[in-house]
Amino acid sequence: MASNHFVASIDIGTDKIALLAADIEDDGNLRIIAHNHCPSNGVRQGSLFSIDELTKTLIRLIEQTRKSFGIKVELVRINFSDTHLTCSEGKGKVSINEVVSPEDLDSVLESAMAMSTPTNKEKLHVIRKKFTINENDVVDNPVDMEAEVLESKVHIVTVSSSSVRKIENCLKQSDLEVEKIVLNSIAKSQAILTQEEKDSGVCLLDIGAGVTSYSIFNEEGIVRSGVIAIGGDEVTKDIAYAFETSLEEAKRLKENYGTAKSSSLNEEKFIIFSQEASKNERQLSSFELSEVIEDSYCKIFTLLKNELKHHNLDGVIKSGFILCGGGSEIHSIKELVRDFFSKRVKIGKIQRARISGLEAILTDYKYAGAIGLLLHEGDLSKAEINESNSSKSVIDKIRNVIGVNF
Ligand SMILES: Nc1ncnc2c1ncn2[C@@H]1O[C@H](COP(=O)(O)OP(=O)(O)OP(=O)(O)O)[C@@H](O)[C@H]1O
Ligand SMILES: [Mg+2]
Repeated sequence: MASNHFVASIDIGTDKIALLAADIEDDGNLRIIAHNHCPSNGVRQGSLFSIDELTKTLIRLIEQTRKSFGIKVELVRINFSDTHLTCSEGKGKVSINEVVSPEDLDSVLESAMAMSTPTNKEKLHVIRKKFTINENDVVDNPVDMEAEVLESKVHIVTVSSSSVRKIENCLKQSDLEVEKIVLNSIAKSQAILTQEEKDSGVCLLDIGAGVTSYSIFNEEGIVRSGVIAIGGDEVTKDIAYAFETSLEEAKRLKENYGTAKSSSLNEEKFIIFSQEASKNERQLSSFELSEVIEDSYCKIFTLLKNELKHHNLDGVIKSGFILCGGGSEIHSIKELVRDFFSKRVKIGKIQRARISGLEAILTDYKYAGAIGLLLHEGDLSKAEINESNSSKSVIDKIRNVIGVNF
């Protein structure tokens, strides 16, 4: 089995691929020792569509990283986006004889996890949530507490097995072994959200290139994740269509002159651009550009709003949205999201408590996903469940994750 003397992660996006490697320091914190990114190939709407193209790109990226930083990445954590993922909640309930014992914890978790998966699907994440005692008090660790009834919930993310196999094969062909696969928005939440923010009820919204992913948290833990099949590239396409430009020119206009909320523009400016058909340079008004951009972002937000409504989640997001991903880099995106959803909004920043490295890396949106993968812990992913099945019980593993001493 491949092994690194460091932790490595690769965020495979529709637009870019970002790689990080970090040393684990004596206190358990991570220090980034290598970073690299390149344009993505073979990925469409967050999902792998050409194993060959992605393999070539990954091989090149690993080789460049070896030359620049003198390290050979072999074992990696990677991200995953699946527009067909399902989230479900497993629930367990047991009666308690005076105080909660470790055995009570075992049985309540076991019953919460006892959920079968359809044959073509697999559990990517089994995430423990907080416990409830006497149908009222939410606690992290109920052992030794007085109670009559103990309840537990686990959040289960199920994804298509064939998509997971495809990614694993691609990595194998690139001479890489997968340490773990983490859902994109769950990885980013580990890099960006504080425990306080999660407890207060937030939606982490990652506006990428091909997809927009979200994860919602409240005081009990993770509530729901989802992937919407459009992102920043949709905005680029709409600009290209509106002003008859190439996609490349539209992307340049969006990233250099774009504004998400047209009413936030104080003065009209004229931007020089080239149209696809004519070689002549033309001018376009910053207001017109912004109107197209705003409409396009609103398409993404309408899909999200419908999804939140469908799952009754509006009330859960009490503290509003925290934005990340390249699509959140645009001017006045905060104002647009705030007005569209009537919620508080802020731009997510990397939490520095457990990771250090170059300022330029810790503040670059391109590396947020890879940082989240490096920091990811605290759930029973598929690999960990397999490992648990062969050595320890799943429950032992959960006990380790929540730090319960027996
Ligand atoms: N300053 C900017 N203004 C507007 N959009 C931007 C800006 N910078 C980057 N983007 C857009 O962000 C998107 C890329 O974001 P990101 O790197 O998060 O995507 P990805 O992870 O590669 O894709 P995905 O997560 O969808 O698979 C592109 O659509 C790009 O045009
Ligand atoms: Mg992404």
